[in-house]
Amino acid sequence: MPVQPVFVATWRFGVAAARVGWKRLSQGATALDAIESAGNLTEEDPEVNSVGYGGLPNAAGEVELDAAIMNGVGHCAGAVGGLQRTRKPISVARRVFEQTPHTMLVGENARKFALRQGFPEANLLTSQSQERYIEWRKTQLGADVAHFDLGPTNSQPPQPLFTPDNHDTIGLCALDANGDLAVGCTTSGMSWKVPGRVGDSPIIGSGLYVDNEIGGAAGTGHGDEMMKACVSFRTVMNMERGMTPTEACAEALRYLIRKRPPEAHDHYGAALIALRKDGMVGGAATYSGFRHPDRLWQWAEATSADPVLHEGCYVTPGRILEQLG
Ligand code: GLY
Repeated sequence: MPVQPVFVATWRFGVAAARVGWKRLSQGATALDAIESAGNLTEEDPEVNSVGYGGLPNAAGEVELDAAIMNGVGHCAGAVGGLQRTRKPISVARRVFEQTPHTMLVGENARKFALRQGFPEANLLTSQSQERYIEWRKTQLGADVAHFDLGPTNSQPPQPLFTPDNHDTIGLCALDANGDLAVGCTTSGMSWKVPGRVGDSPIIGSGLYVDNEIGGAAGTGHGDEMMKACVSFRTVMNMERGMTPTEACAEALRYLIRKRPPEAHDHYGAALIALRKDGMVGGAATYSGFRHPDRLWQWAEATSADPVLHEGCYVTPGRILEQLG
């Protein structure tokens, strides 16, 4: 018997992705195809400055993209890290598992692979992201931040910005009419990152994970923290133990918080979405980074052509809210 399709995406900008993903599912597309289409939509939107084209660059002014896609059918996954000058990185990630015997390609060789697969060389900077980089660079007071000159002679190491419009990674989960699951994650990563830095998004088990018999999960937020706790894998395993998707996300975040000192997550956030095999969905976030009105934790669920935007479910008290008033 056909299953009711479900599509879930992180953030307010995930509404558009969820709409496209659900439309594809309702037309009979596989979960994997729906994830790729929804990921591409966000990657190609120049207004989303944390994903794909228009994403904010690293400290050297170059956009480096991370993306991964995982299929519940066959338990297959592909990923790219630090991919430059290439659009639609989630599609390149898919080609990695479809066209090579490997799971992840990084840096210049990932770019060459993409070129050979027919993805043309592209400029990923928009005039807006370029301007923001120039403004940020002025604040670095001469530090050679692009070349790891981060020591005490510098006035400041590069700091990721905490601003209303610097939202985050898009994480995606889909359940298709066959009852199969897939997940995806795509991002330009932390703005002004040290060149070569790869976050959690393309790491299977951290940025995303799916088990076709249980459910899927995907993350957004401070990847350098989240990848230390394999939070997406833990979320799926929590669902296997019988937790609801929301409980499963919250427990994985509590685990991360328990393992890391408070200052590690005071100025940023971590959040997860999850989709269970039976179609139940959920999400949770750490309180500290994603509670300010400009950076509210939201995620979109589509079980029809009109996605619903959910808000909240925080798992820890945070000082950042108090600081911001
Ligand atoms: N979660 C995205 C990143 O930290 O790169």
